[in-house]
Amino acid sequence: MVEKLWGGRFSKKTDLSVEEFAKSIQYDYKLAKFDLLGSALHVEILKESGFLSSFEANRLHLGLQSVYRQFDKGEFRINNKYEDIHTYIHYQLQKIVGDLALKLHTARSRNDQVVFATKCYCKVAARDLLRDIIGLKKSIISLAQRHRDIIIPGFTHMQHAQPVYLKDYLKMYVEMLERDKSRLAYVANNINITLGAGALAGTPINYAKYASGASKILKKYKEFSEFNIKATINSLDSVSDRDFVIELLNILSIIGIHLSRFAEDLIIWSTKEFNFVDIDESFCTGSSLMPHKKNPDVLELIRGYSGRLTGNLVSVLIMMKGLPFTYNRDMQLDKEPLFDSFEKASQEIRVLNGLIRTLRFNSAQIKEYLKDESLYATDLVYYLVNKGVPFKKAHTIIGRLVKYSVDNSVLIKDMPERLIKKFSEKLAKDEIIRLFDPVVSVRSKRSIKRARV
Ligand code: ARG
Repeated sequence: MVEKLWGGRFSKKTDLSVEEFAKSIQYDYKLAKFDLLGSALHVEILKESGFLSSFEANRLHLGLQSVYRQFDKGEFRINNKYEDIHTYIHYQLQKIVGDLALKLHTARSRNDQVVFATKCYCKVAARDLLRDIIGLKKSIISLAQRHRDIIIPGFTHMQHAQPVYLKDYLKMYVEMLERDKSRLAYVANNINITLGAGALAGTPINYAKYASGASKILKKYKEFSEFNIKATINSLDSVSDRDFVIELLNILSIIGIHLSRFAEDLIIWSTKEFNFVDIDESFCTGSSLMPHKKNPDVLELIRGYSGRLTGNLVSVLIMMKGLPFTYNRDMQLDKEPLFDSFEKASQEIRVLNGLIRTLRFNSAQIKEYLKDESLYATDLVYYLVNKGVPFKKAHTIIGRLVKYSVDNSVLIKDMPERLIKKFSEKLAKDEIIRLFDPVVSVRSKRSIKRARV
């Protein structure tokens, strides 16, 4: 390990097991660019407050930019000599500008740096994920458009319920993604990026310098120009707050659950028993033992990862529970779950997008299932209701008719009219037979205002 940022008070070397146990560089290197942005901002603030001369500030800016380029070019390699990314950047800068780097830590603390960088990371990760969600939504909508006329048996309790348009089924996922998108945008927009908390008590720098320093620096670091950075309103809260992490992890686990349910439907639909869909070979995997297998592993992994995304949320909730105010080292443990959830959600959405774009529906097979008369039982109830029979009574009559058909293995359409009339005088065979039609059934549902697709 290199010298600590905090070595002065200690006369003994840190035990190696502590170094190994406490370090976070192996994952918090993902915050590098944001920490560098915060450092550039801090240089500007120190200059405006008279802690740095213009010459010193310029040298530090150039130094920070050259460290920034290392990350931009992907040249960074995890180096376990450093405790965390903040320490690593400090030493890189020191290599370039010498002891001038020691001035950069004036009036700042990693407690503030880490929350600043994590908030920036969240903004960018949310922005990227929103793009992924929009991409998936588009693919589902175009799948719905391509199959706008297909009707499928709808299920409740995994049992045949009523016929529904496939496009409505697919647009159900679009609705979920739309909610995910607006939740994500809302929470990401509400993250206030602040500086000036110091370790917890604030800094000797006037609050106005933070906003003015930020507006200058954001013009240079164009990647982040949409950020709105201000001085902290309550420094104690700033270094203690991880609500934004929990909110995002919550949103990401809901996304995980949505995708997992979608995946489960497709897994079931791709079985030989259902055979509703054919998943393209490029999105399937095989078996090392059984040569015929074409498995939906991708969908199973999406289903599986929903557990991990939920676990990530729970781990941060429990880590935060009961922590005394303000900063505690426990909070370092928010990052692995946060990064993991963003990365996994994004991967899931992208791979599902590819799978959706190559998915084919087996309409001939689906039509076979639509022959099941029980799918139209509810329509027969409405038929009787329209003839003046109270709903409850109509329900019982049709229930008995269906039971007779099942028990005696005879289709209603093959029963003689006088047998049908035994269940209710109001049942006219030629009329009810016309109701065993998926198109008639879906068109009779008027509560849904239909868009063109
Ligand atoms: N790596 C630490 C974290 O992620 C940085 C803050 C350390 N602060 C401290 N007082 N030890 O939280």
